Amino acid sequence: MANYTFPNHFLWGGAIAANQAEGAYLEDGKGLTTVDLLPTGEKRRDIMKGNVPSLIPLEGEFYPSHEAIDFYHRYIEDIALFAEMGFKALRVSIAWARIFPTGEDKVPNEAGLKFYDDLFDELIKNDIQPVVTLAHFDVPVNLIEKYGSWRNRKLVYLFETYAKTVFTRYKEKVKYWMTFNEINMLLHLPFLGAGLVFEEGANKKQIQYQAAHHQLVASALAVKACHEIIPDAKIGCMLAAGTFYPYTCNPEDVYQAMERDRESYFFIDVQSRGAYPAYAKRFFKDHHLTIEMEPEDEEILKNHTVDYIGFSYYSSRTTSTDSEVIKNMTSGNVFGSVSNPYLKKSEWGWTIDPKGFRITANQLYDRYQKPLFVVENGLGAVDEVTPEGEVNDDDRIDYLKRHIVEMGEAIQDGVEIIGYTSWGPIDIVSASSGEMKKRYGYIYVDRDNEGKGSLKRMKKKSFNWYKNVIKSNGENLGE
Ligand code: BG6
Repeated sequence: MANYTFPNHFLWGGAIAANQAEGAYLEDGKGLTTVDLLPTGEKRRDIMKGNVPSLIPLEGEFYPSHEAIDFYHRYIEDIALFAEMGFKALRVSIAWARIFPTGEDKVPNEAGLKFYDDLFDELIKNDIQPVVTLAHFDVPVNLIEKYGSWRNRKLVYLFETYAKTVFTRYKEKVKYWMTFNEINMLLHLPFLGAGLVFEEGANKKQIQYQAAHHQLVASALAVKACHEIIPDAKIGCMLAAGTFYPYTCNPEDVYQAMERDRESYFFIDVQSRGAYPAYAKRFFKDHHLTIEMEPEDEEILKNHTVDYIGFSYYSSRTTSTDSEVIKNMTSGNVFGSVSNPYLKKSEWGWTIDPKGFRITANQLYDRYQKPLFVVENGLGAVDEVTPEGEVNDDDRIDYLKRHIVEMGEAIQDGVEIIGYTSWGPIDIVSASSGEMKKRYGYIYVDRDNEGKGSLKRMKKKSFNWYKNVIKSNGENLGE
């Protein structure tokens, strides 16, 4: 018997992002966005960091977002499968460049607006609540060329216009919103997180924190607009979460772990508490950073804080001040974590730590005292299709089960959690690697790293498992 119960109306479901699922990258008037410039393979990581060779796709490269899993044309079939699993919510993102192809068009693109109208209608018809992120790793490329992306304050107002446009259009259909996906990602993969391209010798930190300020103001203005236009909606922030453990009880390690956590909490401190935290001021001073702010920014940030804290959790992280220990980093982790000897890792080197999920949820709730929404969690793994056409993804089931147990425990600890949308309920393109081989889904998609395959959908073993989890409101997790 489970030691916990999930609240009634808990939002069980899944999460995908436009750029990793839709494809149709130039269809119906859509403009080019950042992710459309990310190839698979070795170069991808370097480009995501801001070393961008070209602002148009290059001959001879394979760009997985261009076709992705063709959700744009197949969403009806996919939603039927989500409905069969009993989803209460599906988290999607709107591609900014479908609505404003250049990011600064005078009028929005009707074909783009209509696509999301149809998508939301289909979800609602199936009793699935749309949970919508305004910006999930995509900036219209024109805004990078013309303004240098989020380093320029102009984007604050263009984003506000975009946000107001979609709030007005979908006010009857969408009641859960989020502003920027994994807003802290801009410190680690600045092109992916904020469309930042760096010139040789640029002061990256200065540019990143200036861009962060602009996103924080834009986020607060979006919160304001959402509250005005859809008074019965909730709008949240979104953090790539995962607490940092000190490698030892050496106070140096403990202090460093606190600092590493603050690197991420900084964003949510502003979005949720409405002001720059004291430690940020010291950080700016120590690093000789001068952030340009307008006189009205303080009030904007203060008056328009988020309603809930959305977060992704895949792994905890570990940090050390010992030069020997830091030789042993986990591969694949953009947050720069040393290997934790107590924990196993996924095939991509991501630490697996269900207890860390409970710890992270408790810490976030202690810090912000606002409802939490787990909007991403899952295991990226290689799936084998048997000759009988089955995918027996027991490792994924095990990962999810153990995380759901800890989420239940966190709820018993008193943490208010409103929903759980696991990542990639249908296989989609991996954000960090661009691969299809790194799969998260309950539904298998026939497509490989080179873009070959029929795109046919197929249920994995985890499909029925998750269906039972939802049906029993988290009580039946299998033996
Ligand atoms: C989060 C992102 O970082 O993790 C998603 O919000 C991403 O876009 C997910 O896909 C899993 O990462 P990956 O690299 O395995 O796809």
